[in-house]
Amino acid sequence: MRIIGTGSALPKKIVTNEDLSKFLDTSDEWITTRTGIKQRHVVSDETLEDMGAEAALKALEMAGKRPEDIDLFICSNVLGEYITPSLACIISEKIGLKCGCFDINCACPGFLFALDIAESYYKAGKTKNCLIVCADEPTRMCDWNDRSTCVLFGDGAGAAVLTEGDNVKATKINCQPAVSKLWQKRVPEPTPYVTKVEQNVPLQMMGRDVFKFAVSASTTEVVDLLSSIGKSKSDVDYYVVHQANMRIIDAIKNFLGEPDSKFPTNIADHGNSSSASCAILLDECNRKGLFKKGDLLVFSAFGAGLLSAAAILEW
Ligand code: UT7
Repeated sequence: MRIIGTGSALPKKIVTNEDLSKFLDTSDEWITTRTGIKQRHVVSDETLEDMGAEAALKALEMAGKRPEDIDLFICSNVLGEYITPSLACIISEKIGLKCGCFDINCACPGFLFALDIAESYYKAGKTKNCLIVCADEPTRMCDWNDRSTCVLFGDGAGAAVLTEGDNVKATKINCQPAVSKLWQKRVPEPTPYVTKVEQNVPLQMMGRDVFKFAVSASTTEVVDLLSSIGKSKSDVDYYVVHQANMRIIDAIKNFLGEPDSKFPTNIADHGNSSSASCAILLDECNRKGLFKKGDLLVFSAFGAGLLSAAAILEW
């Protein structure tokens, strides 16, 4: 397939590190040096579906496609307001999509899992025009008294429209199952038969372990995927990497021995917006005109699961 439109949407409320320091035992210095984050967009009165719909409409407009042109809609999100129907159905109703649609819950690498699915549908002859929306609000998953998680995240949505083409060169999805490293639990309704007393648990993360997993999964997958299509890092123009921690991005960059200029980032302004992260970064770079026709882009993302994924696209 080929990406012909991108879009994104952000909550209006911006929370700076100084804002957080007013009610948490943290500091701008700690957050900046440990993560590279300076501020994040945080949902207040916006809904996930509003942000997802806005990002989708912007991507459709850039692509020059109408909602009725889309024949497959994949929506990536972790925590939606509705258990059922899917966020994909809710956004479809809002913007007038009429095709088959579904949610995927693949945490931070959700955009790359969606790309992988879209490309597979395309190769099977089952889609010509696909919409991907990644909409996440991880700030509503955290305990805002837990400084080890809530400072890391921001909310938002990113979207892409794909059509027929030969620009997705390779995709790979992976899992090294390790639930306890990064998880959140929401308890279903009680019944007369469930005796166990359970409670909702906000997002829990073993940060150092996830950090190590992220660097090792990303570097291995990028090198392997490039070699699978006979390319090397010297062929790469840009790396669009999940914006979780600037130190993770730096470690990947150092391992690959690649220059800063190949790694666009927006982590300082957005923090980690889960699956929206790569999609928002892609849209921002695209709208700035960073990518030129023929550029080779490598995507890499990692998160709860522990899931990871990589993709290579010719722009
Ligand atoms: O998108 C999902 C994927 N998630 C990730 O990629 C996250 C990966 N992990 C990380 O990015 C990093 O591990 C963190 C940013 C989460 C933490 O950085 P770290 O360098 O691994 O710090 P740490 O967890 O080892 O904590 C160091 C110290 C601890 O204090 P002690 O035990 O040394 O006294 C923490 O309690 O920093 C303390 N700390 C804080 N201090 C001030 C933890 N959070 C904060 C905070 N402000 N917000």
